[in-house]
Amino acid sequence: MNLVVGATGVLGGEICSLLAQAGKPVRGLVRASSSPERVDALRKAGVELATGDLTDRSSLDAACRGVRTVYSTATAIQSRQEGDTLDRVDREGQANLVDAARQAGVRRFVFISFRGTPGLDYPLQAAKRATTERLKKSGIPWTVIEASMFMEVWLGPHLGFDAGNARARIFGAGEKKISWVSYRDVAALAIAAAESAAGENQVLEIGGPEALSPLEAVRIFEERGGKKFEVEHVPEDALASAKANARNPVEETFAGLQLLYARGFEVDVKPTLARFPMRLTSVREYADRVFAG
Ligand SMILES: NC(=O)c1ccc[n+]([C@@H]2O[C@H](COP(=O)([O-])OP(=O)(O)OC[C@H]3O[C@@H](n4cnc5c(N)ncnc54)[C@H](OP(=O)(O)O)[C@@H]3O)[C@@H](O)[C@H]2O)c1
Repeated sequence: MNLVVGATGVLGGEICSLLAQAGKPVRGLVRASSSPERVDALRKAGVELATGDLTDRSSLDAACRGVRTVYSTATAIQSRQEGDTLDRVDREGQANLVDAARQAGVRRFVFISFRGTPGLDYPLQAAKRATTERLKKSGIPWTVIEASMFMEVWLGPHLGFDAGNARARIFGAGEKKISWVSYRDVAALAIAAAESAAGENQVLEIGGPEALSPLEAVRIFEERGGKKFEVEHVPEDALASAKANARNPVEETFAGLQLLYARGFEVDVKPTLARFPMRLTSVREYADRVFAG
């Protein structure tokens, strides 16, 4: 049995779909408060549902029963209920899950993270680091996937990249390159690595096939959509000051991630592709998907 924690999220939902489509048994952890539409979509895809919460250890013990592989994609950065904090969910909650998985005799724990950047730290990164350290010491065979920025999120309307209205918000000058990756490719790698001995006790970095600056990404969208974009820049010093003056760890993390974007985030995917050959989605293909609706 595979357990996906974060099943109602973007990446966790894709891992559930891919496993279910391949006829593999999959259980998704959902919360009493999770979106009913997303829970229903999981049920229709053939995913067994387990109700629980990272902050409730006994629910994790129940969800881990009979499980061989745990995939943890959950995070409180976007999806928070009252009382949820990065500390309670991304740090203590993930620690609860590692402990529950160890007790249940889980044979592989796949944790989704991203690479740290020297000189730029923020609470989500610190929580990811703490989980990775706990997992490595747990005795459970582990895989940590360090993903670059998801193109569907960072080149999507939620963060101000609004292709439909030909408008883009760019963090910083927009000239530093980023290895935009599709969450679909991250899901495929997570499963391939979980199911292979080559993925055991490995940190695997994944980015897209080509690093492009945000302004280059805008040009691709202009070319594919046939319309010039209106571009708004959030200056890097405004991001640094937002981080310094953040009122809570979530605000500090958002400013930290936007600074990461402004400073560029390139990933060398060759070592991962050498072990797990796969075709990676390009920003051009993603743009065509967006315009095709
Ligand atoms: N976005 C990027 O560019 C990027 C880049 C690299 C790595 N990542 C990592 O990729 C992972 C997946 O991201 P995503 O975009 O798929 O996230 P997402 O869509 O925001 O999904 C978050 C999931 O976590 C669940 N969750 C939150 N708090 C929980 C709790 N207390 N107990 C149990 N589940 C809880 C949510 O459940 P509900 O629906 O019930 O709230 C939801 O299923 C994250 O770990 C993220 O850090 C993201």
